[in-house]
Parts: sequence; C-alpha cells; structure tokens
Amino acid sequence: MFARSALRVSQRAVRTAAFTPMTARATFTSAAKKCSPEVPVVSYHQGERVESAIPYDNKAGPVNPEGQDEVKVAIPLKPEVYSQLTPTLTKFTLPGKVAVVTGAGRGLGFNMAQALAEVGVRGIAIMDVQQELGDKAARELSEQTGIDVRFYRVDVRDGGAMGQTVQDVVDHYGQLDILINAAGIADSNMKAETYDHEKFRRLLDINITGSFFTAQAVAQQMIKLGKGGSIINIASMSGTIVNYPQEQSCYNASKAAVIQLTRSLAAEWARHNIRVNSISPGYMDTALNRVPALEAQKRIWVDHTPQKRLGAVDDLNNLAVYLASDGSAFMTGNNCIIDGGYTLW
Ligand SMILES: NC(=O)c1ccc[n+]([C@@H]2O[C@H](COP(=O)([O-])OP(=O)(O)OC[C@H]3O[C@@H](n4cnc5c(N)ncnc54)[C@H](O)[C@@H]3O)[C@@H](O)[C@H]2O)c1
Repeated sequence: MFARSALRVSQRAVRTAAFTPMTARATFTSAAKKCSPEVPVVSYHQGERVESAIPYDNKAGPVNPEGQDEVKVAIPLKPEVYSQLTPTLTKFTLPGKVAVVTGAGRGLGFNMAQALAEVGVRGIAIMDVQQELGDKAARELSEQTGIDVRFYRVDVRDGGAMGQTVQDVVDHYGQLDILINAAGIADSNMKAETYDHEKFRRLLDINITGSFFTAQAVAQQMIKLGKGGSIINIASMSGTIVNYPQEQSCYNASKAAVIQLTRSLAAEWARHNIRVNSISPGYMDTALNRVPALEAQKRIWVDHTPQKRLGAVDDLNNLAVYLASDGSAFMTGNNCIIDGGYTLW
C-alpha cells in the first residue's frame, strides 16, 4: 500500500513570485472582537447604500480546527471490482488515466485529486505554489492509494513555467487525460471604490490568467497526443450571483470570466475531442473560509443557503469524477452549480 518508490516529488526550478495566501477579511471593531461580534451588512434601499451591523451570539465559537481542512482518506477501487461493474458504473471510472490538478496542495483541489485516485487514475500531478503543502499532499495521496503522485511547484501565473511543467508531466507519464484547474485565491470585504489596484490585478492574474495558461499548456499536449481529454475549471457561484453581505467585485468578476472562458474553450477545442466544463461551488467549508474573521458572515451565508450548511470539502468530488469521465461524454461548455441551493434565493 505504501508505494514509496512510486512517489517522486519533483521540485522544479520554476521562478516563483513571493506568495502570501490571501484570505477574506471581515470588518470588526476592536470592541466587537472582545464581547459583542457584529456582522457588517451593506444593503441597498431605494437606490441608496445602507451600511449596518448585525450583532450575533458567538457562543458556538470559531470553527474547529481553525484554518484547516477536514481530513478524509482516499481508498482506491480494487482492480478485481472493475470487471463486476455495470456499463453505467464503468463509465464513472477512469482506469489508467493521468490527471493534472492545480491548487491541489490542499482544499477542494486535493479532495478532487483523492476522488480521481479512488476511481482508477494511475498518475496525478499535483501543482501548487506552496512547496510544503504540495509535498505533503503528494506524499499522503501516494501513501493512501499507492498511485504515482508527483508534486510540481509552479505558479499558475507563469505561462512559460507552466508549459515546461506540463511537458515534464507528459514526459514522465506518457499521457495526459484530465485537468482540474482549482488554483485560486479570494479577496473579500473590499469596497470597489477603494480597491487597491495591485490587489485587483493580482487576483485576476491568478484566477483567470492562471486558469487560461494552465488550460492552454494542457490542451497543447492533449492535441499533440491526439486522444482528447477533459478540462474542469473551478469557477464559483460568485461568477453568476453577487455575494452578500461582503463586497468582492474582483473575485466575482474573475469567476464570471472563468465561466465564459470555459464556454469559449469548449467551443474551440471540441474538434480535438477535448471537453471543457466548469464547477461553480457555493460556500465551502475549506481552510480558505476557516478563519475567525469570517465567522459572523458565515452565519449569514448558512442562513441564505436552503440546505442550511456550507459545502463539505469533498462535496465537489463526485461531480469532478463525472465531468472527468465518459459519464459526461456529451457535456461540454457547461457550468455546474453545486451550492446547497444558495443561488435559488
Ligand atoms: N472555498 C470556497 O468556499 C470556494 C467557493 C467557490 C469557489 N472556490 C474556488 O475553489 C478553488 C479552490 O478553493 P479552496 O477553498 O480549496 O482554496 P484553498 O486556498 O484551500 O486552496 C487553493 C490552493 O491554490 C493554491 N494557489 C493559490 N495561488 C496559486 C498560484 N498562483 N499558483 C499555484 N497555486 C496557487 C494555494 O496554494 C492553495 O493550495 C479556488 O479557485 C476557489 O476560488 C472556493
């Protein structure tokens, strides 16, 4: 089970810009922090912007564990099971396929990589800008499943490095069938009228330009290999609705761009048998959101979600497998919202 020999962690000498993970920030007064937390709310009444604060009861305390994803362990399908699957179930498996998953050092990307490993993928290239997270993710996934998982440190904003890295993946595995583009950052509680220009550019650069550079590098290889493939972009419900109560114009615009990029690439690359779809998650319970500063807003998010919960860190897994597999062979250019019903209200 512990196929250590299969684990080769590749540390590419890729140029990386200094990286500081950006989490959303809530606006609290220092007094509010101590005893009476308040949720900042911006609403519009007859065209007028109204700012207010809703006090909330903080008895439940911050999420536990703070700043970490819930840990799940991947279990690979036993080879003898494949022959017993019905035609429908067979279409949901990915035996012998090779996948690239960006942003898979943790969170949704790592969990979707685990899901691919559970349905037969033989090789996974984890790409992330954070060395420590990527090393750990590759080691754990390899130990859990025995498959050949490699970590490639690369910043999705660096198109040249991305091209070289994807070439390395193909040189090693000899094929490339699936891309999940999950690398992304969030910035919220940022008022549009005072949004810092550099921050605005940086977010767009990672969320949209990075998604494009990665899809382009992977599609070039898929076209060369001539076997088609499936590309899955992780967008967000924020590409379709405007979140409440936090202001996050840039993030919302970046994810709307990811959805439209998905549709454009799907139309262009259908002739190469490459399908391109996007997943638009609602609010998910990942490290990105497991910060005390967001506790108050989270209560509003849950309240506005018909299912009355945040998404679990593995709630995208089955959809990702479906989109990667022949189960969705006739689906391309689609944006699949998976949000506990948030966008219904
Ligand atoms: N968590 C949510 O509520 C939520 C909701 C909707 C959409 N999303 C989207 O899902 C994706 C994953 O989110 P998550 O919650 O797992 O976030 P996360 O912060 O836990 O994971 C994102 C990963 O991307 C990596 N990354 C960031 N910038 C990078 C760069 N320039 N190059 C390479 N890697 C980089 C980070 O190191 C991190 O490991 C993101 O695109 C996010 O916008 C998340």
